[in-house]
Amino acid sequence: MQTPLILLSVFCCLSAQSKRNQNRTNHEEPGRRKPPHIIFILTDDQGFNDIGYHNPSIRTPTLDKLAAEGVTLENYYVQPICTPSRSQLLTGRYQIHTGLQHSIIRPRQPSCLPSHLDTLPERLREAGYSTHMVGKWHLGFYRKACLPTRKGFDSFFGSLTGSVDYYSYGSCDGPGLCGYDLHEDEAVAWGHEGKYSTLLFTQRARKILQNHDPAERPLFLLLSLQAVHTPLTPPKAYIYPYHTMANVARRKYAAMVSTVDESVRNVTYALRKYGFYKNSVIIFSTDNGAQPFTGGSNWPLRGRKGTYWEGGVRGLAFVHSPLLRRRRRVSRALLHITDWFPTLVGLAGGDSSKSPGLDGFDVWPAISEGKESPRQEILHNINPLHKPTAPGAKGASEEEEKEDSQTAAEAEVCIPAKDCEETESQKETQAKARPETKTRIQDQNQSPRRESTAALQTAPHRVPLQVQTQARVPV
Ligand SMILES: *[C@@H]1O[C@H](CO)[C@@H](O)[C@H](O)[C@H]1NC(C)=O
Ligand SMILES: *[C@@H]1O[C@H](CO)[C@@H](O)[C@H](O)[C@H]1NC(C)=O
Repeated sequence: MQTPLILLSVFCCLSAQSKRNQNRTNHEEPGRRKPPHIIFILTDDQGFNDIGYHNPSIRTPTLDKLAAEGVTLENYYVQPICTPSRSQLLTGRYQIHTGLQHSIIRPRQPSCLPSHLDTLPERLREAGYSTHMVGKWHLGFYRKACLPTRKGFDSFFGSLTGSVDYYSYGSCDGPGLCGYDLHEDEAVAWGHEGKYSTLLFTQRARKILQNHDPAERPLFLLLSLQAVHTPLTPPKAYIYPYHTMANVARRKYAAMVSTVDESVRNVTYALRKYGFYKNSVIIFSTDNGAQPFTGGSNWPLRGRKGTYWEGGVRGLAFVHSPLLRRRRRVSRALLHITDWFPTLVGLAGGDSSKSPGLDGFDVWPAISEGKESPRQEILHNINPLHKPTAPGAKGASEEEEKEDSQTAAEAEVCIPAKDCEETESQKETQAKARPETKTRIQDQNQSPRRESTAALQTAPHRVPLQVQTQARVPV
């Protein structure tokens, strides 16, 4: 059941800092209606019950207001985990067409978006957009051709892996395999430790808006927040309003949702201030369902992140835009995350017929005018590598059986969990780098690994995650 990928260590060795080398294209076609600025806000692991308009105990006044004034998407589907969802957003193709249907891309895996498929930002750039990404990538980085700046974004500021620490930007893939994962374009962005990522990313988004002339070129901004993924470490000020909530994990999780709300408030404020708002489309979407073990909730939907139950794949989303024809509506049109590609390229006046094999539909008439969705069905996944073995199968030795049931259990429980949850070893390593949690974790840990602790103590998270310049394994 293991993905047949060769693991390469890309963490610790290379130190080349790459200069950004980019050839911007600017194919403006005069005489067309002005394409809208597109702001796509993607949250991580926010569940169906984790927003004020579904659950008043979560305080999201900004999100509630934007949704109420726009179109709330109530029959919208995503993939159950990070990498697959994100790959579908950026390619408009089902994951069976990208090879990313098995799980997330782990930091050591030499995998990324396939080189033969175009991406949404590439098509938007071709249509004259300035394209920026802030936040979590999680679509591979083992060679330069995989990076956001080589996949259509003019600029990138954020993390390349999943499960990054919100303050230290440390990211681990097992004991001793840690790195500092905050990048600006193709270089390591040192010196931001200590600043909570939701605040840091929002600040960067505002700076992009401030520095861009909305009259000159349309803008595509993908703000891919790390929140509300684990670890549950929001700044204290956001936790206080939830102090009466009994479940501590839920309280911290709710506080993180509030940071997202504030982020969106700040971004929309900047959109108005700098002259984008009147010609903008704001899309808000989660990447997958929530993990109830760590404070999230998908109620009343069954299941959780990592499962194909509704709780894993039915996503929160809304569109807010002065350009919507019929506003203040709830849409029950069947929509899927792959639909954003042709929909946004269509809004941009671009040409999605140039992208062969798209699985998405242009759903703008469904969203804006309440027309019927062109979509009849969704292919959630086909994964030939996932073959759970029935326990107790004839002929299996006890040992094999144990292994099989472990692997099957892993396929169902841990693979999704591995995505966005830290593995035990990650927890261990990260805890060692974070003194406040040290004692607790050491108590749980019967066999502390001295070696990795020593390595971390001498250089806690000072090793940048690096891009392998020489690819040894093709994507
Ligand atoms: C940029 O693109 C133009 C036109 O395609 C090409 O002539 C030029 O050599 C490119 N420059 C770089 C630095 O790649
Ligand atoms: C929003 O802006 C205010 C005022 O500048 C700032 O204090 C706050 O930290 C910002 N919040 C986020 C989440 O960016």
